[in-house]
Amino acid sequence: MDDILIAPSILSADFSRLGEEAQRIEHAGADWLHLDVMDGHFVPPITFGAQMVKDLRTQTGLFFDVHLMSERPERHIEEFLSAGADMITMHIEAIAGDCLRQAIKKIHDAGKKAALSVKPGTPIEAVYPYLDALDMVLVMTVEPGFGGQAFMADVLPKASALRAEATHRELTMIIQVDGGISEKTIGQAAQAGANCFVAGSAIFHSDDAEGAITKLRSIAANI
Ligand code: DX5
Ligand code: ZN
Repeated sequence: MDDILIAPSILSADFSRLGEEAQRIEHAGADWLHLDVMDGHFVPPITFGAQMVKDLRTQTGLFFDVHLMSERPERHIEEFLSAGADMITMHIEAIAGDCLRQAIKKIHDAGKKAALSVKPGTPIEAVYPYLDALDMVLVMTVEPGFGGQAFMADVLPKASALRAEATHRELTMIIQVDGGISEKTIGQAAQAGANCFVAGSAIFHSDDAEGAITKLRSIAANI
């Protein structure tokens, strides 16, 4: 397996001091910062928008992995690119097929990475028509919307099928999992072919973020 990427989700950070929280996690050895944008429509909560990403960009050099949980995400791509996103993940359930290729192209034209995500109930085959154009696929391991939910192991066959499809097509594909990732679950996800792991509560709620990241990385690397 390629390098393991650990992406702490800022959703579990203290929102009154997000700059410090991003720096804390950077010093703790995170590879990416996962930024959960929620619009109150695609998922019930509202979190933050591009201005927050722009302001956080001044606080950390971490790779910004922006997870857009919003309806018609194509409307906001330019804002998030200008704000400093390095990767933009859109939900395939939230965007019309005819906008999708154009949205991916817009992200790539800006020199950034593009990803699609599937909710637990969405078949993985839904992303196959776009695989050659994608840098990453996010296989949600909880229903999107909230941190701290229980890991859904029953979606892991989707990650395995995707890894097999990517290997068959000779694609270097990052497969990300998000939701309920902890020391107990990361091994199963890595076994299924994931190599990028989002973790909110398991890292931000730990007294020892560095230890938590090191442990997660080591479990995923040693399956
Ligand atoms: C949920 C978000 C996740 C969330 C994960 O919709 O996409 O990124 O922060 O939180 P944990 O790791 O606590 O399940
Ligand atoms: Zn997320």
